[in-house]
Amino acid sequence: MTRLLLISSLLLILIAACQPEQDKVHDPYEKDVDTLLQKMTLEEKIGQMTQICFSTITLDGSKSLELNVDQFREAITEHHVGSFLSGSDNKSRWYTFIRDIQKIAVEETRLGIPLIIGIDHVHGANYVDEGTILPHNITVSCSFDKDLMYQAGKLTARETAPLGLNWNFAPVLDVGVNQYWPRFYETFGEDPLVTAELGEAFIRGSETTIKDKNYKMAACAKHFIGYSDPRYGWDRAPAWIPRQQLWEFYVPPFKKAFDAGVKTVMVNSGALNGQAVHASKDFLTDLLQEQLGFDGVILTDIKDISKLVDMHHVAKDVKEATRMSVDAGIDMSMACNSFEFNQIMKELVDSGLVSEARIDQSVRKILKLKHQLGLFENPYPDSSMLDQIGSDEHYAMAREAAESSVVLLKNQGALPFDDEDKVLLAGFAADSKKMLTGPWTYEWMGAEDERHPDSMNTIYTAMTDMMGEDRVQLFPWGESINEETQDRFKKMSEEVDAIVLTVGEEPYSEFNGNISDLTMDEKHTRWIELAIETGKPVVLILVEGRPRLFTKYEKDLDGVLFAGYPGMGGGDALVSIMTGEVNPSGKLSFTYPKHVHHTLNYHHYSSEYNVYWRNDQEPYSLYDFGDGMGYADISYTNLKLSDSVLRGSNDSLVASVEIKNEGAMEADEVVLWYMSDEVASWVRPVKMLKAFDKISLPAGLRKKVKFTIHSSDIAFPDKEGQLLFEEGYHTVQVGGMTKKFKYTP
Ligand code: BGC
Repeated sequence: MTRLLLISSLLLILIAACQPEQDKVHDPYEKDVDTLLQKMTLEEKIGQMTQICFSTITLDGSKSLELNVDQFREAITEHHVGSFLSGSDNKSRWYTFIRDIQKIAVEETRLGIPLIIGIDHVHGANYVDEGTILPHNITVSCSFDKDLMYQAGKLTARETAPLGLNWNFAPVLDVGVNQYWPRFYETFGEDPLVTAELGEAFIRGSETTIKDKNYKMAACAKHFIGYSDPRYGWDRAPAWIPRQQLWEFYVPPFKKAFDAGVKTVMVNSGALNGQAVHASKDFLTDLLQEQLGFDGVILTDIKDISKLVDMHHVAKDVKEATRMSVDAGIDMSMACNSFEFNQIMKELVDSGLVSEARIDQSVRKILKLKHQLGLFENPYPDSSMLDQIGSDEHYAMAREAAESSVVLLKNQGALPFDDEDKVLLAGFAADSKKMLTGPWTYEWMGAEDERHPDSMNTIYTAMTDMMGEDRVQLFPWGESINEETQDRFKKMSEEVDAIVLTVGEEPYSEFNGNISDLTMDEKHTRWIELAIETGKPVVLILVEGRPRLFTKYEKDLDGVLFAGYPGMGGGDALVSIMTGEVNPSGKLSFTYPKHVHHTLNYHHYSSEYNVYWRNDQEPYSLYDFGDGMGYADISYTNLKLSDSVLRGSNDSLVASVEIKNEGAMEADEVVLWYMSDEVASWVRPVKMLKAFDKISLPAGLRKKVKFTIHSSDIAFPDKEGQLLFEEGYHTVQVGGMTKKFKYTP
């Protein structure tokens, strides 16, 4: 008996001794974090929760990186700041700057905690002069290519992390449902599945450790939540999104990112359903942390705590606003240019309004993040890895990304050009680098051509390179339309076979892009009119951050290409497509509206409405979600289902279709599988995308493509986020064909 007792006690001791080991596997940094936390003063802890802009510690107060050492020392010794963000310079200055500040942080502060440095590398390494500039998300989402997005994440990390920039404020996971929103181009378009899948691929790519070296970068899922549908279209205007829709459209991309292990989240600056998100316990604690299980670092957006006072008027002063934000769940304040957050937080703890235990919760997460990124072992940038920034291999990827993203929306035989065709090229983006790379390129609002690399082609220089100078004429941009310019334009057009006209909108960022009318500016449409008047075939290239409308001219155009902001490979990509060297394969990731005040998404509710009331109403879109053609005909036949019934919530059946390239040129085809619900207890979207893929099809070949339909594909969330599985019929749709099946519980 005693022996038995002894054995069981020993067993218990053994189990207890094993317990911490198991926990260790779960969180290998817990012990280190706890030990450090115990040594920290309250001020040091609050400093870790503060993020300051580099412009506060540079000599001229700009983003260019010359360190004001005294100001920096003050920031980290007096205010104990643990994180900085945002600069723009060449790679060697980035390298020196980060090396120097990390050295001071590690060697000259009491505890030697390394800094974590944030950057908005939202389309490649866009704040490094030599960096590779990829297309913006709205463009690259039209590729529907998950692997491309994974590679984009990797490329970004390879050009970012070795500089000591370990925290990238990307990807934007807001669903681009509002075409007026001036951040539309930062989104992956209007579909939640596309946003979720491409966002997750980017996160996986950017959070992988860079081979051979231990450099890591954290991604940031932003902006949680409900930012992208401001009711009147302007940036940060309030949004009103019913809970059911929040669960169905806005939560899934974030959920997918959390499942993929994204380490950080940035909060939406706007108000959602009457609550300022930065002050909302409902959104930041209940939804984000408890229901969705996110346990990483929650960062405010820039200077946003004070917006609770000045913009949202939900707090009477910054002290109250700070308390509300911390209470709601934020871990770090992107305070940017003020140390007020630190002082106020100290006062809040001293007066018992915020507990030190609450501060510890956030600091634990931040220190863990620094450990996860390997900053304690190696906080310094690596000069041996700078060569790959802007390498030829990376440039080739930027071009490839643009080639597979540009969408051919209309082609009346104008494209591809014949070998002898001569072209007149005109419009604002014809010979401009700035218009192709767009905003968030070296500068927030985009940078002038001089700041771009000499090696980058504009559309014009790409055309002369690929087609030869004698086949291309450039009509310079910047001249007003008057009799003389019109005559000159018409005269030049007489000598060519086609006119290629670039139209759209110049780069803008955030509120700078607020507009009240989606109609394309007259300075562009006047040239469309003039080009049409010449009687020559006109091909339009749309260089823009959102769909700007040119509806009344569309019927007279011979070709239309959507380029968005295609990045530094955009000029080459567009010309390869126009000459037929590349077969276009992009499809539209959003709805291109026809009318200014009738902006819908493909997944809107009750399209049957038109048919129900009257059937003579005009379509709402100029181009639909999923539109886009190549130079080869692609046929879809033989849609089959492996069964006609799904039984219970764990069942599956397989849909298959045969897709054939009927043309003489190799093609890539985006395959879009939709489903719709015949009868449901909630009014359902007309159809929802359930799966997509991009396949390559050699000329003349046929491939069988499959989609496994799981029972969960027929389910939809109610307003609490509970999935409903309802008995009834569903239709699966691909390539214009449909098949019905039944779900039974
Ligand atoms: C934007 C964020 C960005 C931050 C830092 C804000 O204005 O809303 O998306 O990450 O600035 O640059």
